[in-house]
Amino acid sequence: MLPRRRRAGSAAPAARAAPPDPRFPHVALYLAERRMGRSRRAFLAHLARSKGFRVLDACSSEVTHVVMEHTSAEEAGRWWQRQAAAPAPGCHGPALLDISWFTESMAAGQPVPVESRHRLEVVTPGEEPSKSVWLLPYACQRPTPLTHHNTCLSDALELLAEAAGFDGSEGRSLSFSRAASVLKALPGPLTDPSQLQALPHFGEHSQRIIQELLEEGVCEEVEKVRRSERYQAMKLFTGIFGVGVRIADQWFRDGLRTLEDLREQPQRLSQQQEVGLEHFRDLSTPVQWPDVEALQQLVVAAVDRALPGASVTLTGGFRRGKRQGHDVDFLITHPQEGREAGLLPTVLQHLKEQGLLLYHQYHRRHKAAARPQHSHIMDAFERSFCIFCLPLPPGTAGEDPLQPGPAWKAVRVDLVVAPDSEFPFALLGWTGSKHFERELRRFSRKERGLWLNSHGLWDPQQKRCFHATSEEDIFRQLDLDYLPPEQRNA
Ligand code: CTP
Ligand code: MN
Ligand code: MN
Repeated sequence: MLPRRRRAGSAAPAARAAPPDPRFPHVALYLAERRMGRSRRAFLAHLARSKGFRVLDACSSEVTHVVMEHTSAEEAGRWWQRQAAAPAPGCHGPALLDISWFTESMAAGQPVPVESRHRLEVVTPGEEPSKSVWLLPYACQRPTPLTHHNTCLSDALELLAEAAGFDGSEGRSLSFSRAASVLKALPGPLTDPSQLQALPHFGEHSQRIIQELLEEGVCEEVEKVRRSERYQAMKLFTGIFGVGVRIADQWFRDGLRTLEDLREQPQRLSQQQEVGLEHFRDLSTPVQWPDVEALQQLVVAAVDRALPGASVTLTGGFRRGKRQGHDVDFLITHPQEGREAGLLPTVLQHLKEQGLLLYHQYHRRHKAAARPQHSHIMDAFERSFCIFCLPLPPGTAGEDPLQPGPAWKAVRVDLVVAPDSEFPFALLGWTGSKHFERELRRFSRKERGLWLNSHGLWDPQQKRCFHATSEEDIFRQLDLDYLPPEQRNA
């Protein structure tokens, strides 16, 4: 290690040296980070400086050219109005420009003349508001509807993502998930492998899969995984309530393959898994909308009895518009902060008295972990992951009157209690999809330097939390365009 004095002495002159004279003194660039993202912006700024351009870090009145990416003229105009910098864009203010001006200028090695095709000008109403948002790198920047144009392709990639997850290859799994998610957001069907070139997150492997699917209609690698003993057993085991990848993998390595194998070794099962196995058939049958409505009524009644004034909000896949799901997710709160605390045991008691619960496990709120600066994967809300015994309306239980089916069915229900001040974050966090949430948190951290979880949004530099009264508020604070739940099916 160098002695202290020499180190300081050698570093100081370089740091204090004036920046080299810009080659184009009348041009001052500002790269708007909004859609570009922090890392790409840093890269482009470095590129421009290396070519002798002056790039300003802040949007001041000195700026002559603002460069934006994936931004419509309207958005650019609104963005400019929010900047406290200078007069209106146009004659006195800077030119608001598309990335095309920047790219051409870099290629030319000097600022090219601004032409109207470079300018972000307010378009007439009715024109496409945003440019190719589906090419943006984070899933939380792209609207992703429930039904889309590339289901066969995205299903194949998601199967590979799932299989990689079963093998503990998180990185590989994420790469496939990201590529699949890009396909879900495309405005039309992908028909030619060459179209992949323009898409983010398509590595060599995902490209190869899609190419084969487009050319052959089927991909050998995907089919091989689908047929494999490993995939099938892992899929079966992780489909049991209370069984994660780690346990499923242990069972597989111990030679277990079927539910029968498990039933023969009950000593391996936790109480939760035992109930999961017992009701496996019901629980692996998708929950339908009528079930959701019936459950909502039951939960609302129990919550209302336990704490009048408390509210019950449907979250999860059904809030995103799914027609069926693996469970039903409810978020409970009360407008008076603190009243909601400890509410769940009473609710569960009421449900139990009515014979509506087959299984429940109560988790009280974990105080220390319920802070956004502890950005855990699991949140710390008071909650219960339950199995309801849902009575079926007469006539629906069994088709054959001589062999009537049971008058009820088992349904997985998640009940989560959030204090009023955390409610918007909890709602956003529990609405999903899982990939959307993962991307939103990654975007916050990497592009905005903020830590988001289901409890709040934390600024680690200023050491403070943001306050939000709605999901829209949170998107605004992240400077992201709002996506309604039905567009979060990433
Ligand atoms: N979630 C969570 N913590 C958990 C479980 C779930 O924060 N321990 C969140 C997930 O991020 C997800 C949402 O709750 O976004 C809903 O999870 P889940 O019910 O598993 O998935 P759905 O999207 O509702 O889809 P489905 O139930 O139909 O499979
Ligand atoms: Mn769900
Ligand atoms: Mn759930």
